[in-house]
Amino acid sequence: MLEASQGASGPTAPVRLVDLGATNSLTRSLTGIGEVDRVFGGGLVPGSVVLIGGEPGVGKSTLVLQVAAAMSRSHRVLYVTAEESAAQVGDRAGRLGAAEPGLDVLAEVDVGSVERVVDGGGYRLVVVDSVQTMRVGDVAGPPGGVTQVRETAARLTELARRRGIPVILVGHVTKDGSLAGPKVVEHLVDAVLYLEGDPDRGLRYLRGLKNRYGSVAQVGVFEMTGAGLVEIPDPSGLFVGDAIGVMPGTVVFPALCGRRTLLVEIQALVAGTSAPQPRRSVTGLSPRRVHQLLAVLHRHGSVDCRSCDVFVSVVGGLVIDEPAADLAAALAIASSRLGKPLGPMAAMGEVGLAGEVRPAGGADARREELARFGIDRVVSGGRGRSISEALLAAGIRPERGRHLRAAGP
Ligand code: TYD
Ligand code: MG
Repeated sequence: MLEASQGASGPTAPVRLVDLGATNSLTRSLTGIGEVDRVFGGGLVPGSVVLIGGEPGVGKSTLVLQVAAAMSRSHRVLYVTAEESAAQVGDRAGRLGAAEPGLDVLAEVDVGSVERVVDGGGYRLVVVDSVQTMRVGDVAGPPGGVTQVRETAARLTELARRRGIPVILVGHVTKDGSLAGPKVVEHLVDAVLYLEGDPDRGLRYLRGLKNRYGSVAQVGVFEMTGAGLVEIPDPSGLFVGDAIGVMPGTVVFPALCGRRTLLVEIQALVAGTSAPQPRRSVTGLSPRRVHQLLAVLHRHGSVDCRSCDVFVSVVGGLVIDEPAADLAAALAIASSRLGKPLGPMAAMGEVGLAGEVRPAGGADARREELARFGIDRVVSGGRGRSISEALLAAGIRPERGRHLRAAGP
């Protein structure tokens, strides 16, 4: 997209890399919302485009309005609403305490009109809600279609580059893919963040899928309240119950999310079934890895779940994609299968196909966070450590054959 803004003035000349310096880090603007700045990688970069995706109703408009309001305390901000009327946005802003004098609202669906307003407006941040309801006049196809969505994102990216201001785009993601979603524009923009939710607890997670200016491992945690999204800067306690390890099938996992460690509880329920195809239901972890763990537990740990339904989930709706969560999931499964509570303990380590348990990276940070919550029993991977040793270390003693009868619920 850089070429697009330089095309008219002819070919560009190379510059010395050292002359460019670290300008980005100097000119980033903090939004003032810590959990947002964390995921942005330390604030918004001038001339960059951030796409915030999520399912309808998860809270994208709420989040971007709060960001716009926070930024407008120090900069002029334009909030373009292409879905709701200006009055509806005003109404919401009133409830959120987001009605700031530096924040302008423009109800507009035409990209060209937005460009004219931004060119004459002196704005330092532009928010467009949403990319699927905007249209570019001379492009065919309905709003929300692939052509319109792509062209809208391209034009707004060009606007961001040309004016040197950050632009935040909102994009809907639907499970059935009925709208041309953020996937269509991911390659055009600098950062793609997803807002995900746990409907039961009102928790919301903002996580990076792509970020040219920061780490995608960061997760911002919020709670949806009557007054909008409230930051949760220290969420570990939320995910770990008081009665940890009292019931069979629960193990704490210290997850590394960027520079922060979050304690999460991994739960498993293993229940006997006579169905020919036992169920496997996995939430918050990779189903493929859980299937692999079941095979490793059977083959190398004498824990047989073949005639059982298996449910595994991460409490609180967080998605964990670290292999280091393997051991915690495996121990939770074994604990439930054998009906044996493990007490307050945590586990970390990657389980390999040969039944070996490798150490987790960042072990010191993880142990530190566990210690903060008084969990000092940690089963972890290590050189030459096997899954059967890890089971023993957790106090689980499967006796070949016997548990098949003993643990049926
Ligand atoms: P919204 O931001 O409109 O979601 P999206 O733009 O992703 O479609 O908000 C979604 C829900 O959040 C809506 O059903 C009402 C709820 N909500 C609150 O609980 N508290 C609030 O302060 C606001 C503004 C919304
Ligand atoms: Mg919305």
